[in-house]
Amino acid sequence: MAKVVVFGAGDIARLAHFYFTKDSPHEVVAFTVDREYRRDETFQGRPVVDFEDVAARYPPDGHSMFVALSYAKMNKVRAEKYEQAKARGYTLVSYVSSRCTYLSETPPGDNCFILEDNTVQPFVTIGNDVTLWSGNHIGHDSVVQDHAFISSHVVVSGHVTVGPYCFLGVNATLRNGITLAAETLVGAGAVIMKNTTPRGVYLAARAERFQKTSDEIDL
Ligand SMILES: CC(C)(COP(=O)(O)OP(=O)(O)OC[C@H]1O[C@@H](n2cnc3c(N)ncnc32)[C@H](O)[C@@H]1OP(=O)(O)O)[C@@H](O)C(=O)NCCC(=O)NCCS
Repeated sequence: MAKVVVFGAGDIARLAHFYFTKDSPHEVVAFTVDREYRRDETFQGRPVVDFEDVAARYPPDGHSMFVALSYAKMNKVRAEKYEQAKARGYTLVSYVSSRCTYLSETPPGDNCFILEDNTVQPFVTIGNDVTLWSGNHIGHDSVVQDHAFISSHVVVSGHVTVGPYCFLGVNATLRNGITLAAETLVGAGAVIMKNTTPRGVYLAARAERFQKTSDEIDL
C-alpha cells in the first residue's frame, strides 16, 4: 500500500481519486498542481499543494505519485509531468481495475490507468504512462508503448504495436500485425488496416443526416 499524491485537480484526478479509493490498496493523501494553476486549498476533501513545494510537504521517500492528466497535446503534457515527478524522486503507481481481465504475465509499466472491462490478452506488453479507458480489447502479443492513450471500445488485434504518444479514439479498430508509428492520431470509429506514419491523422467517414426525420420512419 502506498500513500499517493495525485498530480492534477480536474476530471481525471477526480476519477483517479475514486478508483484508487474504491478499488486499490493505495490511499490518496493529497493533490498537486503547478502553482499558477492552483485555485483551491482542497479537492475531494484532500489538500492541494503547489507542485513546486510537494517534495517538502509529501517527500518521495514516504509517498508515491500518480499523474492524472488526459491526452492534451497528444499526451505530451502528461508525459512532461511524468518525467518531472520521476526527476523529483517519486515512484509512480499504476491502477489496474479489479474488473479488468488482465491475462498477460507482464505487468504494466508505471503511471498506467487501466479501467474496467478492458481485456488484455496473454503476451501483451504495456509500457509506462499508458491509459486504457474502459472496455478495450488488447489482442495477444501486442505492445502498447509509453504515453499512449486508448479511449473506449477500441479493438487492438493481435501482434500490433501502438507507438509512443498515440491517441486512439472511441471504437477504433486496428488490424492484426500492424504498427502505429509514434504520435499517430486515430479518430473515433476509424478502421486502420496498414502501418501508419509518424504524427499521421486517420479519420473515419462521419454519419450523415438522412433526408427523412425520425417521425417520418415507421420503426
Ligand atoms: C479526429 C478528431 C480528433 C478531429 O477533431 P477536431 O480537430 O476537433 O475536428 P472537428 O470535429 O472539429 O472537425 C473539423 C473538420 O474536420 C473534418 N473532419 C473531422 N473529423 C472528420 C471525420 N471523422 N470525417 C470527415 N471529416 C472530418 C470536417 O471537415 C470538420 O468540419 P465540419 O464538421 O465543421 O464540417 C475527432 O474527429 C475525433 O475523432 N476525436 C476523437 C473523439 C474521441 O474518441 N473521444 C474520446 C476521448 S476519451
